[in-house]
Amino acid sequence: MKIKNICCIGAGYVGGPTMAVIAQKCPEINVTVVDINEKRIEAWNDKDVENIPVYEPGLSKVIAETRDRNLFFSTDIDSAIDKADMVFISVNTPTKTYGIGKGMAADLKYIELCARQIARVSKSDKIVVEKSTLPVRTAEALKNILDNTGNGVNYQILSNPEFLAEGTAVEDLLNPDRVLIGGDVESPQGKEAMQALVDVYAHWVDKSRILTTSVWSSELSKLTANAFLAQRVSSINAMSELCEKTGADVNEVAKAVGMDSRIGPKFLKASVGFGGSCFQKDILNLVYIAKSFGLNEVADYWEQVIIINDHQKRRFAANVVKTLFNTVSGKKIAFLGWAFKKDTNDTRESAAIYVADYLLNEQAEIVIYDPKVKAEQIYADLDYLNSRPCEENRRCVTVANNSYTAGKDAHAILVLTEWDEFKTLNWEKIYNDMLKPAFLFDGRRLLERKIKEKIGFEFYAIGS
Ligand SMILES: NC(=O)c1ccc[n+]([C@@H]2O[C@H](COP(=O)([O-])OP(=O)(O)OC[C@H]3O[C@@H](n4cnc5c(N)ncnc54)[C@H](O)[C@@H]3O)[C@@H](O)[C@H]2O)c1
Repeated sequence: MKIKNICCIGAGYVGGPTMAVIAQKCPEINVTVVDINEKRIEAWNDKDVENIPVYEPGLSKVIAETRDRNLFFSTDIDSAIDKADMVFISVNTPTKTYGIGKGMAADLKYIELCARQIARVSKSDKIVVEKSTLPVRTAEALKNILDNTGNGVNYQILSNPEFLAEGTAVEDLLNPDRVLIGGDVESPQGKEAMQALVDVYAHWVDKSRILTTSVWSSELSKLTANAFLAQRVSSINAMSELCEKTGADVNEVAKAVGMDSRIGPKFLKASVGFGGSCFQKDILNLVYIAKSFGLNEVADYWEQVIIINDHQKRRFAANVVKTLFNTVSGKKIAFLGWAFKKDTNDTRESAAIYVADYLLNEQAEIVIYDPKVKAEQIYADLDYLNSRPCEENRRCVTVANNSYTAGKDAHAILVLTEWDEFKTLNWEKIYNDMLKPAFLFDGRRLLERKIKEKIGFEFYAIGS
C-alpha cells in the first residue's frame, strides 16, 4: 500500500517538526497538519518562517523548503482527514487535573475527540497512527470508538511514539536512534498497515533502525524510555546534594561513572531539575498504570524519580534564600533562562517556573531574561500555578530583553537554562553593575567557578 496523503492532527512541538521532516523526505506525499488552535496555524503559515510557533534549530529551513509544496497547515480538520490514507494523532495528553486519576493519569479527552472526529468524517479505509504518548492499551479504546461510531470503513491502529528531544528535534528526526512501529502483528491487514508506515520512514531511515512490535510493547516502550531518562537525571541530582555535603564534585563523579561503558555518559548532567512537557507527565502516568494493576512497589519505585526532582528545585531555591542572609524580601533576583532547556522556546514544567514561585512566596522581585521566551508566556506560566493574583505576578516579575539589563542592580543572578550565550557574556560588566556581595547561582553547571570567583562573585553551583 502506497501512502499518498497524510493528515496530522495537532500542530505542536511534535506534529509540526515531525511532519515537516516527513514532507521534506517524501516529496511525493502530501502532508497536511491541522489544529483547532487558529493562532497556532496562522503562525505556522506566517510568511516569515522565523515566526513559526516552535523554535527548533534548523526547523525554519525545512519549513521554507516544504511549506506549500507538499506540507500544508490548516484548520480544516474534516477535509484533511477525509483526503488522508494515514492520520497521525499528535495532540497533547496532559496529566488529568480533575476526577479519577487527578494529578497522575493521562487526560485522554483530546485523543477521544480526535477518534470521534475521524470516525464521523471518514468515508474510506484509514490507518490511524498514535504519535502522542499514550497509556498502554489506548489503541484498544481508539479501535472501539472508531469501529462503533464510524461509517463502516476499516481502520488499522498503529502506535508510532516520537522520541525526538526538543532543542535537537530536527537532528533527531533526521537521524533517529530508532523508529518504533507497533501494530496488529497477527493479521495480514495489520502487517500491511505497518509496512506502509515503515515505507514512509524508509525514505531516509535505515531499515535496521525501524523496529516493529505489538501495539502494547510500542505504547509501553515510550513511557519506559522517558522513565529511564528522567531516572538518570534524578539519580545524578540526588548525588549532587551528597557532593555538596562531602566536598566531592558532581561533574567529576558523573565523568568517572559515565566512562563505565555499562553506564555511559549521557543524561548524567546535574541541574536544578528536569522540566519539559513529557518526563513528569509520562512517569506519573506510568505510576498510575502500575497502581491500577495493584503493583504498588513498582509505582513507588518510579514515583521517587519525581520526588527527587521536586526536591531538587525546592532546595535550589531554598539555598538562594539561605545564602542571601535568610531573606530575599524586596531583593532583585535576576533569572537567566526560562525555557526548560536550551534551544527551545518551550517552557512547560520548566524548573525556572517553580524556583520563581518559591522566591515570589518569599517576596523577591524577579527580573527574567530568556533569548526565546516571550513575556506573555512567562506570565501565563506563573498565572497557571494559581499561587497569587495575576496582578501580583506582573507587579513582582519583570521581563528584560538582555542579560545585562536583567542583572543591573540585582542582589543575585540565577542561571536556570543552559543557553550558550550565557557562557560568553561580559561577566565583569555584569558584576560591576550588581549590588555587592554579588551572588551567582549556577543551576546548570554552565559557568566556570574559578573565573567567576576571580571576578568577585560569590559563586554557587549545583553539586559542588
Ligand atoms: N514535546 C515533546 O518533546 C514530545 C516528544 C515526544 C512525544 N511527545 C508527545 O506528543 C504529544 C504532543 O505533544 P506536543 O508537545 O506536540 O503538544 P502540543 O501541546 O505542543 O501540541 C498539541 C496540539 O494539539 C492540538 N489539539 C488538541 N486537541 C485537538 C483536536 N481535537 N483537534 C485538533 N487539534 C487538537 C492543540 O491545539 C495543540 O496545538 C503528547 O502526547 C506528548 O507527550 C511530545
